[in-house]
Amino acid sequence: MKKNIIIANWKMNLGLSQTISLTKDILSGLKKNKKDWAKIDIILCPSYVYLSEVKNLINKSDIALGAQDCFWEERGAYTGEVSPAQLKEMDCQYVIIGHSERRQYLNETDEMIHKKIKTALEVGLIPILCVGETFEERQKGIKDYVIINQVNRALEGINLKANQQLIIAYEPVWVIGSGQAVKPEEAEYANRIILQQVIDLYPLPIIRSNIRTIYGGSVDHTNVKDFVQQDTIDGVLVGGASLRAEEFVKMINQLIS
Ligand code: PGA
Repeated sequence: MKKNIIIANWKMNLGLSQTISLTKDILSGLKKNKKDWAKIDIILCPSYVYLSEVKNLINKSDIALGAQDCFWEERGAYTGEVSPAQLKEMDCQYVIIGHSERRQYLNETDEMIHKKIKTALEVGLIPILCVGETFEERQKGIKDYVIINQVNRALEGINLKANQQLIIAYEPVWVIGSGQAVKPEEAEYANRIILQQVIDLYPLPIIRSNIRTIYGGSVDHTNVKDFVQQDTIDGVLVGGASLRAEEFVKMINQLIS
């Protein structure tokens, strides 16, 4: 049976006390289901500055810690940047890379994303690579081409060793934060395109055991199950709905029921 994954991407939405109370509320909401936690991977991605607070709160639970981004060098004179090695030292296991908001507002390129994935893997983090088309690209009919290119440029030339894992999230840019997810069948189609692409890059056994493909974009407790019931969707990346403990716990309950 596949092990689903649910990732909370809190973006830059919360202050310190909100981050602490959201984490505590999620933990207490999950207590009732403790025996079932092992069925899924739960990952919280707070802002960098609160990683240590969240780490201390979740350290006795099965919840894992993730970061929302990283730099591509391990150390050095890069003012303001945070390296994968530093994240690893903070007990992060996962890192989101190439989120569309960073591609859009920080001009993050496929080349930067490629370098970040490479370094993140090298230090033992699990990258969560985000890919997806904009509304304009979709209207132009180049959606598949965009996804294929993003996957290729991010991963080509990067070996995936037996002990390294990778998550690829299909996130259609135009549905993020819109409250209107794409149909599960459409997300499934995009994930198939992604998988077809990685077949050119990695041996099948590595794809089967080390790569998971997930969906993100306006997922909540009403639709989460429909997504993970698709063959190639192994979980969800959640923005807005992960900011409400009750809603997030409801989603988790849907995934383990
Ligand atoms: P959303 O965000 O769930 O609010 O649409 C998803 C994301 O940006 O990863």
